[in-house]
Amino acid sequence: MGPIKNHRVVVTEHGGPDVLQLVEEDPPEPGPSEVRIKVLAAGVSAFDLIYRRWAHLPGSPKLPFTLGEDVVGVVDQNGPRATVFEAGQMVAGGTWAFGVGGGYSEFLCLPESELVTVPAGVDPAEAACLVVNYLTAHEHLHHIAGARSGERLLVHGAAGGVGTALLQLGKLAGLEMFGTAARDQHELVSSLGATPIDYQTEDFVARIQALTDDGVDVVIDPVGGAKQLWRSYRTLRQGGRLVWLGSAAVDQQGLRVAPFSMAMALLLRLIPDGKRVPSCPTLDKHAKAHPDWYHTTLTELLDALATNQLEPVIAQRIPLAEAARAHELLERGGHTGKVVLTTDAYDNT
Ligand SMILES: NC(=O)c1ccc[n+]([C@@H]2O[C@H](COP(=O)([O-])OP(=O)(O)OC[C@H]3O[C@@H](n4cnc5c(N)ncnc54)[C@H](OP(=O)(O)O)[C@@H]3O)[C@@H](O)[C@H]2O)c1
Repeated sequence: MGPIKNHRVVVTEHGGPDVLQLVEEDPPEPGPSEVRIKVLAAGVSAFDLIYRRWAHLPGSPKLPFTLGEDVVGVVDQNGPRATVFEAGQMVAGGTWAFGVGGGYSEFLCLPESELVTVPAGVDPAEAACLVVNYLTAHEHLHHIAGARSGERLLVHGAAGGVGTALLQLGKLAGLEMFGTAARDQHELVSSLGATPIDYQTEDFVARIQALTDDGVDVVIDPVGGAKQLWRSYRTLRQGGRLVWLGSAAVDQQGLRVAPFSMAMALLLRLIPDGKRVPSCPTLDKHAKAHPDWYHTTLTELLDALATNQLEPVIAQRIPLAEAARAHELLERGGHTGKVVLTTDAYDNT
């Protein structure tokens, strides 16, 4: 057997999915407090598509670069000062560079402080779903919105990666839930415990009014857009909270969604009517500011997965070498849950 090689997907230029190229190289060497992991599964996210498509975004590195913000793998080699994990242990972690963290690789070096042990018997692809999507859902549902048992929750993009995570955590928290999604995803939304609303043919403000009389306590909106946020705000009852966490509408409306959403969120904050639009640090900022929360929550989520309290929805497991197909799938829309890339090592687990 020859020396081991790393296969890594790189963005060679900005553009469509075909700019993703697989390269072969020597595996990276871990730094002093880093761990080299043999990747089993890596998440594909909405941020990945944005960084692939558009140049000159804040935080975007120089070409060529490797996408991927959440990984699960097996510890392959410890750096000289890394002592927490042993070779062969399964670990999960976020690369905390949204979109551009290097997860689309067979080998990846990460600081040991960013890794958490994965319990035995867990599917690495399912574990990968927890890192960004479930931590994001947990941060926004509990830390930012402060949702309490018995409250009403409206989730937009309810069949997507973050949306399905929100519904599963919302059910565990004892919330009454509503979720917007396209008609053919309603069965999934219902199975996750929410009343589905068709975002393409129904007026969700009128539907929430009809279903609840006085509105919901929390709206979590990963779709964004000024009009969308204004309409989400209108579904809130007294004391309600609107949490804007993403811009899935970028697919239909382009990059301007983010600044328009930000402006609308600022305007809504000025209305003195007892409703709130809290500011929402992105998951990477929240995790960096609260490392104990990150470790404890990810560990709890992984335990909930191991005991079947959580069942992440996976749109498809796609081999790393076919990352372009994964991007096409996400770009087309209509998928449910998270798209996960898997390596040859995953096939051998
Ligand atoms: N703040 C953070 O820390 C953080 C962390 C993670 C993700 N995010 C952001 O959250 C957003 C969602 O991420 P994701 O991974 O869940 O993406 P995703 O899996 O692509 O899901 C997005 C969902 O939104 C649906 N959708 C699109 N337009 C809609 C509308 N007008 N009304 C209702 N639903 C609509 C899509 O449905 P169709 O399939 O029918 O188009 C899809 O199911 C992204 O913008 C991402 O960047 C933020």
